[in-house]
Amino acid sequence: MNREQDGPRHVPVLLGRADELLGPALTEPGAVYVDATLGLGGHAEHFLRTYPGLRLVGLDRDTNALRLAEDRLRPFADRITLVHTTYDGIADALTQAGLDPVGSVSGILMDLGVSSMQLDEAERGFAYSVDAPLDMRMDPTRGITAADVLNTYSHGDLARVLKTYGEERFAGKIASEVVRRRQQRPFTTSAELVELLYATIPAAARRTGGHPAKRTFQALRVEVNGELDSLRAALPAALDALRLGGRIVIMSYQSLEDKLVKQELAPRIVSRTPVDLPVELPGMGPEFRMLTRGAEKATEREIDENPRAAPVRMRAAERIQERG
Ligand SMILES: C[S@@+](CC[C@H](N)C(=O)[O-])C[C@H]1O[C@@H](n2cnc3c(N)ncnc32)[C@H](O)[C@@H]1O
Repeated sequence: MNREQDGPRHVPVLLGRADELLGPALTEPGAVYVDATLGLGGHAEHFLRTYPGLRLVGLDRDTNALRLAEDRLRPFADRITLVHTTYDGIADALTQAGLDPVGSVSGILMDLGVSSMQLDEAERGFAYSVDAPLDMRMDPTRGITAADVLNTYSHGDLARVLKTYGEERFAGKIASEVVRRRQQRPFTTSAELVELLYATIPAAARRTGGHPAKRTFQALRVEVNGELDSLRAALPAALDALRLGGRIVIMSYQSLEDKLVKQELAPRIVSRTPVDLPVELPGMGPEFRMLTRGAEKATEREIDENPRAAPVRMRAAERIQERG
């Protein structure tokens, strides 16, 4: 998920592999493809171009991204519906597009996290490398900012956020320092936080742990955007939306996201027929089969060409039984 060391702009991550995995489900005329994280529409453009009968329902919580994607996808305007929503709103978005929220979709892509455009827009405060207001909202029209979190959360809540979402070893120490500093002056810009992190994280840990701000910025972004709650709610709705033979590809950029994906799929890829019965009971067979073995990573070649692919963990599955 850390994409601060961005490579070429807007190169869709694992595009070829995503096509191999989703493509077989997208060939029928009228097949519906949901891009749950439309971003700048890089993946979506590829699929619309490659599968001429395809219809896109594209979701994003970021109004700027939707505007840019709409421009990019103008040549396909008669085949697309774009919806401003978080991906847990997938069922409503399908209804809005005139589709059944259950069993109507042939392919779903979830390319999680923050986009290179969001990182590049310095004033949104996602990148720790430039001084900017501590905002970090993917949907700039609503919700609390990173500054609100730093200035109002209790010591315990700050430490929990940093530890859980950033896997930050020095969460308690950083939280204490944040609480101490904000009594003098509330946090407003990213440079103030970066400076605090440099001063708080011991020099020895700084030499081995990557940029000292990386984990704290990730944690604040996940908290501000309720990323894990949104994913937890979205996954069952997305799986329910798939028709028989429909496929889903999910690209995660941090272990907590990938863990949620794995947990949601696990009970659906096993039979519910009691083990001592010799035959599968009707409707009790596995609902999905995995198309990937474990979590697939990008190849070295792809990471060379597109450094944003380095942390990706991709899982894909196909619906093999109608929803009961
Ligand atoms: C990595 S980018 C997607 C890039 C896209 N695949 C492309 O090719 O351009 C992730 C996008 O997901 C959006 N996003 C993140 N969390 C979301 C959520 N909970 N609901 C909807 N969109 C979300 C972000 O605003 C961002 O635009």
